[in-house]
Amino acid sequence: MIDLRSDTVTKPSLEMRNAMASAEVGDDVYKEDPTAIKLQQYCAELFQKEAALFVPSGVMGNQLCLNVLTQPGDEIICEKNAHIFQYESGSPAMLSGLSMNLIEGKNGVITPTQVEQAIRPTNAYYMPRSKVIEIENTHNVAGGVVYPIENIKALRTLADKHNLKLHLDGARLWNASIASGISVAEYSSYFDTVSVCLSKGLGAPVGSVILGEKSMIEEAFRMRKAWGGGMRQIGIIAAAGLFAIENNFERLALDHQNVKNLANHVSQIDGVEVDLSNVQTNMLMFKPTKMSVDDVISKSKDKGLLLGPGGIGIVRAVTHLDINSDDIEKAKQILTEIFNG
Ligand SMILES: Cc1ncc(COP(=O)(O)O)c(C=O)c1O
Repeated sequence: MIDLRSDTVTKPSLEMRNAMASAEVGDDVYKEDPTAIKLQQYCAELFQKEAALFVPSGVMGNQLCLNVLTQPGDEIICEKNAHIFQYESGSPAMLSGLSMNLIEGKNGVITPTQVEQAIRPTNAYYMPRSKVIEIENTHNVAGGVVYPIENIKALRTLADKHNLKLHLDGARLWNASIASGISVAEYSSYFDTVSVCLSKGLGAPVGSVILGEKSMIEEAFRMRKAWGGGMRQIGIIAAAGLFAIENNFERLALDHQNVKNLANHVSQIDGVEVDLSNVQTNMLMFKPTKMSVDDVISKSKDKGLLLGPGGIGIVRAVTHLDINSDDIEKAKQILTEIFNG
């Protein structure tokens, strides 16, 4: 099977497993796990933030950041397809008492003008209090689109003007950095808090890291415990994260190359629509015009290619560590057969 459903389906390599097996460990609830500490220090330095915390998942990373930036009753301004709103089980409301002010974006991007219009007047005591602007880079539902840096800078200026905080869901910030040539440290410099995943393009089996000021990360450490995320000998998984950043970051360029190759091919198939300008990182979204999404997915599966749904009427293909250029050639052939046969 060629599995293009997501970049989360990767299996740890033998080298990664060896790094995990030989990791030094301790009790992280006592802050005594040397490998977790090493990963956190490594990330704080890489992202040029005061402190970092290893957390079990991207969802917990985002939600911890939102929690430490807000009080119950506050409001988050974000794009309507933001992961924190659509795919985190309603946790802003459930865990932190937050409401969401959603903006219709274009390719996942919201403009500073739209955001400024959404900010509540400070004297409107009967409205929710605007507190955080959140963006996603790359944007998942938009198909791995890279957030324009000029837009990010303008959002920072806006946040400062209105005394708001800025959170980055950087589950795939690694891909954005490779595609744009902008360092993860530069991206992070515009945000109060950042959450990045180790278990997507980088290929670790588990884990995310959040970054911010020391006081915020200390508070997040407390909340992680309160939410049941205090872990013990986590060096075993932190070692996989360290291995992933050190060995699998730069190679994301290959995933981007592979998906572009696939996208160029698919765009020439009759019965398929693709916006090639949105194929910027490791995702391809395409619209079958003569077949349903379910049909494309099941016919591909019968021929050994796993694809996923990418929204209403859209099929998604995602490249990753366990996909090579031969797999892409086979995927191209399978898709040609499906649409032409
Ligand atoms: C943009 C984005 N943020 C956050 C997450 C959550 O990550 P996790 O599945 O590790 O909780 C995902 C997962 O797909 C994602 O795509």
